[in-house]
Amino acid sequence: MAKTEPKNITSLLLLVSLLLSCLSTASTATYPTIPGTADTSIFASQNDNLIPVRREVYGNGRIFDITHRYTSDMPWHGSDNGLGQFLWLQASMKNGSFAYISDLKISVHAGTHVDTPANFFEHYFEAGFDVDTLDLEVLNGPGLLIDVPRDTNITADVMKSLNIPKGIRRVLFRTLNTHRGLMFKPQFDTSFAGFTVDGAKWLVENTDIKLVGIDYLSVGVWSEAIPTHLIFLESREIILVEGLKLDNVNPGIYSVHCLPLRLLGSEGSPVRCILIKR
Ligand SMILES: *[C@@H]1O[C@H](CO)[C@@H](O)[C@H](O)[C@H]1NC(C)=O
Ligand SMILES: *[C@@H]1O[C@H](CO)[C@@H](O)[C@H](O)[C@H]1NC(C)=O
Repeated sequence: MAKTEPKNITSLLLLVSLLLSCLSTASTATYPTIPGTADTSIFASQNDNLIPVRREVYGNGRIFDITHRYTSDMPWHGSDNGLGQFLWLQASMKNGSFAYISDLKISVHAGTHVDTPANFFEHYFEAGFDVDTLDLEVLNGPGLLIDVPRDTNITADVMKSLNIPKGIRRVLFRTLNTHRGLMFKPQFDTSFAGFTVDGAKWLVENTDIKLVGIDYLSVGVWSEAIPTHLIFLESREIILVEGLKLDNVNPGIYSVHCLPLRLLGSEGSPVRCILIKR
């Protein structure tokens, strides 16, 4: 640090400009950033005040959080008013307790979550194909974030036209749902985009995809939600990740990392998913 040679200054400048270019890449998002969720980390770290930092992007634009923040007004199947209360403060320091302690009660299919084979098959549920049995290797590895044309659901024809190369095992499908900001609206919207039966069949029969990610609460369109889940989950090889937050990240290849909770006996789980630039 004390002795700075010209060579080191040059590499320092290079590093700074590299960091700056990373930052500018992060801000040129395809989709508008949702109000109140902007990445303020750069500024907040300079202040020694009590304003918490809430980020969508970490590591100088390299790590993207693609998990939705759990809130009482996030959408929930069949509800007009959102998920409702799911967190209860059981003990408070305001009331003389030694600590703050909360309880959580939530559907395992709320927000960003995974579905297991046990979700739609009685014999798989009984046999214990729960979230604890999901393959972490499928949930973590190189994957593709791809844009589905906004004017369509994911049909067999659309799947064909996306030209996803063989060998790609993890694909996150960004649809009109992201553009409509559906996961940010409390009212459940049955017109969400998703797979049709023939689209799901096409994926199973013609690709190597084992992780299917989507940007609303069901991988299949509302009217075909059950048959699409059956098609994906029957082989017990495919893991479904639903309710992903894909608004401020560009399409392309990333390292996908999804870690569900280890809930013994549960057919689904909330999941934290991130993308890391490769
Ligand atoms: C703390 O006490 C207040 C006032 O009695 C009560 O309304 C509140 O529910 C209590 N909160 C907890 C977490 O015990
Ligand atoms: C997808 O299918 C749903 C349910 O059939 C429909 O309401 C919606 O308009 C379709 N979305 C697109 C983009 O075609």
